[in-house]
Amino acid sequence: MRIAFFDAKDYDIPYFTEEGDRRGVTFKFYETKLTADTAELARGFDGVCVFVNDEVGEEVVDKLYSYGVRIIALRCAGYNNVAVEACYRKIHVVRVPAYSPYAVAEHAMALLLTSVRRIHKAYNRTKEFNFSLSGLTGFDLHGKTVGVIGTGKIGRIFIDICKGFGMNVVAYDKFPGQEDGFCYVSLEELFERSDVISLHCPLDGETYHLIGAEAIAKMKKGVILLNASRGALIDAEALLEGIKARKVGAALLDVYEEESDLFFRDFSGHILEDDVLARLISMPNVIVTSHQAFLTQEALKNIAETTVGNLVAFEKDGVCENELCYRCGNIETCKRSRLEKCF
Ligand code: NAI
Repeated sequence: MRIAFFDAKDYDIPYFTEEGDRRGVTFKFYETKLTADTAELARGFDGVCVFVNDEVGEEVVDKLYSYGVRIIALRCAGYNNVAVEACYRKIHVVRVPAYSPYAVAEHAMALLLTSVRRIHKAYNRTKEFNFSLSGLTGFDLHGKTVGVIGTGKIGRIFIDICKGFGMNVVAYDKFPGQEDGFCYVSLEELFERSDVISLHCPLDGETYHLIGAEAIAKMKKGVILLNASRGALIDAEALLEGIKARKVGAALLDVYEEESDLFFRDFSGHILEDDVLARLISMPNVIVTSHQAFLTQEALKNIAETTVGNLVAFEKDGVCENELCYRCGNIETCKRSRLEKCF
């Protein structure tokens, strides 16, 4: 198979080249993102491989289809950037449902610890031989309440990590599972009780701006908001207002709602056009990492192995267990349509 690989980064290329060579898949790496303007680059390829900020809307899907592309291989779990319904009867879509939930959960805790123990400030100070402790007072996580929204693979690992720190855990999930050393509460109660709120649910029509002005108003003063899921779960302007009003004590963001034109690229030396992000970054109680939570050696290896595995399974059998199927409206669990090869 020949696959056009969009938004390629130096850390992707060795893992995908090695795995592709081993299993007979050839990748052509493009630095550019997939958009309506760049879709032409996929002409003549069997498939495209895309990441979180590639734009695979209806127009792009139609173009890919007309160029003979048969499969869109997402090398990530989330698929909010793909018009799955537009793909139905045209192009198959596969994804990597899990590559290292530990990577994301551990990064979320790294952000939280960095913030509450002021590690980022201490690091800069000691680099300049400033050994003053003034302004570095933190607080214990032990005994604090963390509210986790979304108790899937990543949320549950994050809960276990928090329990290891002696935190009390409350959780909200649209489809609650088993309570395992934590209790499910309503979203409202979670907002009211939590010292730290961490987001681990997917972005969709229902969760878009889940954290906005109204939600922030219900939270404790000084609440820490942690988002390592998808940027648009938080209304960034409302967050900024919450910080300015001293209601939000800290915002720890691995994702940002307007990240697609910025993240994964070097803008040092440029004037940042996004005033909201620039203002957020300027705040002493905001830490931003640029969608880095997944980035571990283990995750990169798993992403390459699963993506190539998805492509090979599709080529060989016409079905793939990691296919997203729109037809039945139940794209998470529907096996039947996949076994019938659907279309
Ligand atoms: P998962 O599918 O295992 O878990 C998601 C959970 O959210 C499920 O328990 C589901 O029932 C729940 N949920 C669905 N709709 C909800 C709603 N409206 N309200 C509350 N809960 C809802 O997914 P996983 O692997 O745990 O990933 C979670 C999210 O993390 C992904 O959707 C993705 O956006 C994000 N992610 C971020 C990465 C990063 O590098 N920052 C890397 C990988 C994933």
